[in-house]
Amino acid sequence: MLNRLFSLEFVRVTEAAAIAAAGRVGHGDQTTADRLAVDAMRKMLRTVEFDGTVRIGEGERDQAPMLYIGEKVGTGSGQSLDVALDPLEGTALCAQGAPNALSLIAVASRGALLHAPDVYMKKIAVGPEGAGVIDLTKSPAENVRLVAQQKGKDVAHMTVVIMDRERHAEMIAEIRAVGARIVLISDGDVQPAVACGLPSSGIDMVMGIGGAPEGVLSAAALSCLNGGFQGQLIFQKKGAQGSTDHEQLERAQSSMGIADPERIFTRDELVRGPVIFSATGVTDGSLLGGVQFLGHGRVKTHSLVMRSETRTVRFLTTDHDVASHNVLETDWLR
Ligand code: FBP
Repeated sequence: MLNRLFSLEFVRVTEAAAIAAAGRVGHGDQTTADRLAVDAMRKMLRTVEFDGTVRIGEGERDQAPMLYIGEKVGTGSGQSLDVALDPLEGTALCAQGAPNALSLIAVASRGALLHAPDVYMKKIAVGPEGAGVIDLTKSPAENVRLVAQQKGKDVAHMTVVIMDRERHAEMIAEIRAVGARIVLISDGDVQPAVACGLPSSGIDMVMGIGGAPEGVLSAAALSCLNGGFQGQLIFQKKGAQGSTDHEQLERAQSSMGIADPERIFTRDELVRGPVIFSATGVTDGSLLGGVQFLGHGRVKTHSLVMRSETRTVRFLTTDHDVASHNVLETDWLR
């Protein structure tokens, strides 16, 4: 059982990261925005009383100076928990000032999160009605038909979100051929996965290949929303379609406990047991508003925080007095 007070603690963590990144919206500089979000998230995590270990983070220790996989976070005392985090999901969205950049965290018991390598994942995400029928071994068109049936919808009224990538050309053609509606996105596939689980979002499914760490975060959110998720790791080098990432494949098998690299993971295999998920909007989006600078040191944030044990879904709008807050204050706000 996760202490329910953690919900408020972890929403503070995504708020801090979102506020820090938001100062760089539209600056065309992904690296700085990400670094500011990482710094702020790490600083706020230090104030939370728990013994945390980053399982999904900014990368391996040698690539990421902070919030690397295996890094200890929190005060070091209290409940021992594993953390999946993405201080800035959609770095390019933030750099361009485009919608739907978010700050994300998911926290679960020790050993509960799949230690996913930083490779790709073939994914399918749906809300509660479709959870029992999705099947990555079936074709995309078949999955759309099965979910439409469960939702009592005509296939023509289904809305499927897919990342606009060359690798999805065949899938897009197949789904168009069955008549479903498609929303192509440039980046950020966690946001639509969360939206699938919210009845009024208008999004029915997310399909395609995206980041594996983002897959675990999506599974955590859908666990809180009782939605469905399946993921299969794809050991391909980023940007190099078709070329196998042998190094990652070997690591996954030897040290991450992933015996069968072709295994299809269900939501509950990616996230085993209770989880808390928090997201704060960086830029305005269809799920959450972005950070607003109100003047006189006040900043408004919009967050979603959920707990799988009770399936409580909280939307929080928070007004911060950043100028008088010793953790939230960042150099650029001075
Ligand atoms: P970053 O925030 O790390 O830039 O990731 C954004 C993202 O769009 C994810 O949401 C998605 O899962 C992944 O990148 C897709 O990777 P690629 O751009 O290589 O297709």
